[in-house]
Amino acid sequence: MKKKTVYVCSACGHETAKWMGKCPACGQWNTLEEMTVREEKNAFVPSANRLAPQPVPVCDIDLDSDKRVSTGIGEFDRVLGGGLVVGSLVLVAGEPGIGKSTLLLQACKNMAKHHTVLYVTGEESLAQIRMRAARTDAMEPSLLILPETDLENIFEVAGRIQPGVLVIDSIQTINSSTSTSMPGSVSQVRESTLRLMQFAKQSGTSTFLVGHVNKDGGIAGPKVLEHMVDTVLYFEGERYAAHRMLRAAKNRFGSTNEIGMFEMAQSGLQEVVNPSAALIAGRPEDATGSCIVCTLEGTRPLLAEIQGLVTKTAYGAARRMAAGIDYNRAVLLLAILEKRAGLMLSNYDSYVNVVGGMRIDEPAVDLAVAVAVASSYLEQPVHRQTALFGEIGLAGEIRAVSGTEQRLREIYRLGFRRCILPLPGKDKLDLPDDLELVPVRDLREAIRAAFKGNN
Ligand code: TYD
Ligand code: MG
Repeated sequence: MKKKTVYVCSACGHETAKWMGKCPACGQWNTLEEMTVREEKNAFVPSANRLAPQPVPVCDIDLDSDKRVSTGIGEFDRVLGGGLVVGSLVLVAGEPGIGKSTLLLQACKNMAKHHTVLYVTGEESLAQIRMRAARTDAMEPSLLILPETDLENIFEVAGRIQPGVLVIDSIQTINSSTSTSMPGSVSQVRESTLRLMQFAKQSGTSTFLVGHVNKDGGIAGPKVLEHMVDTVLYFEGERYAAHRMLRAAKNRFGSTNEIGMFEMAQSGLQEVVNPSAALIAGRPEDATGSCIVCTLEGTRPLLAEIQGLVTKTAYGAARRMAAGIDYNRAVLLLAILEKRAGLMLSNYDSYVNVVGGMRIDEPAVDLAVAVAVASSYLEQPVHRQTALFGEIGLAGEIRAVSGTEQRLREIYRLGFRRCILPLPGKDKLDLPDDLELVPVRDLREAIRAAFKGNN
C-alpha cells in the first residue's frame, strides 16, 4: 500500500495535490486541509480468487430494499419522502441549538416501540440525555444510549446489539482510527461518514448523522459529506423564534421540496399542523408594507407574510437588505420597480423580510416582494383579504407559476377572498365562487389592483 497526500478544502470539498493558501475553486483562504489517502498498488489487476461482480436484470431487483420505517412524526416522515428507508444514511444538519438532538430523540422514542435504537452521543453526558428524555417523554426501554466517540467501539457495540436504527450525534465528534487527523477535521468526518455508510448498507441499519452547520450555512467542515449520504435534511429557523423548518436538500428516496414545520415547546418539538395559519399569525392590521403570498414547497402550499420597508437614504448609496429571500433577487426586483413601475427607489433604503424566519426560494414570491415594497413606498396598505403570487420578468411582466389551483385553495382556506395572480393558463380551475381572481399582465397593473378599494 502506498500513501498519498491530498489537500481538501473544508468549505467546498475541492481537492488539490499541493497546498495553497487560497482554494482555487471557492476562493476562500486557509481552508485547505491535509488528508492522507491510501493507494493500492495495481488496484485494477484482478486477482485469481476474487469473485467477479454480477449484474442483475432490472426486473429481478428485490423491492424489499425500499422498505420504510415511520419515525412516528408525520412532518418528519413527509420530509423523508414517506418514512425512513431501511439501511439508508440520513444527515440532519443545522446550527447548534436549533433542536436536532431533540428531534432525533423524539423520533427514536417512537421507533424504539418496534425496533432497537442505539443513540450514540459524543457531545452530551448520560445525565443530559436523561433530562432531555424526561422532558420529551422518551422513556423507552429499547432506546439505548451510548456516550462514545470512537468509531471502532461504536461498531463493536452496534455489531453486538444489532440495532434497527443508529443515531450518531454528532459526526463532528466521531473519531476513526483509520484516519490520523483531528476529530472534526475534513478527513476525519469524511472517513467516519464513509465507514458509517458502509456499515449502514452492509448491516441494513438505518442511520442518522447529526451535522453541525457553521454560520455560513455549510455543514461545518466538509460540504463533501452531502455527496456521500443518501439524504440531507436541514433543520433551520430563527434560534429565538419558536418555529423550526425541516427541509430536504438531497433525497435519494423522495422529493427535495418537501418541508416539515415544528414548534419548540416545553416538552420538546411539536408538529405544526396548520403551518400557513402559524406563519401569517400576528399580521399587523392595515399596516403598509405587508402582504400575503402563497408559495408551493413540494406538494404543500404555504402562506407567508412578506414585509417591505423603504426609508429615505440619509447619505451615500441606498442600503438594501433581504431576509428570507435571495439578496440578488430582491435587488433585481427593486430595479424592476424603479424602471417599470416608476418608483424612485434609488433614493431610498429598502428592506425586505419574510416573517417567521422562513426562507423562500421560488420566483412566485416576486410579486409579493414588489407589492410589499410598493406598499411601503406609496404608504398604502394592501387590502387585508388580498393575497398574491407570480413571477416578475425583467420587462415588468407577470409570469405564470405552477400549482395555481393548489395555491388558490390554500389562500381561500385561510380566509382570503381575493387574489392577484398571473393571467390564467388553459387549465380550467375548480374554485369556490366567492374567491375573486384578479389576473394581471404587468407590474403597474398589479400595483393598481393591490391598492384598489382602499378608502
Ligand atoms: P437541542 O436539541 O440540544 O439542539 P441541537 O442538538 O440542534 O444543538 O436543543 C435546542 C434547544 O431547545 C435548547 O436550547 C433547549 C431547547 N429545548 C426546549 O425549549 N424544550 C425542550 O423540550 C427541549 C428538549 C429543548
Ligand atoms: Mg445536540
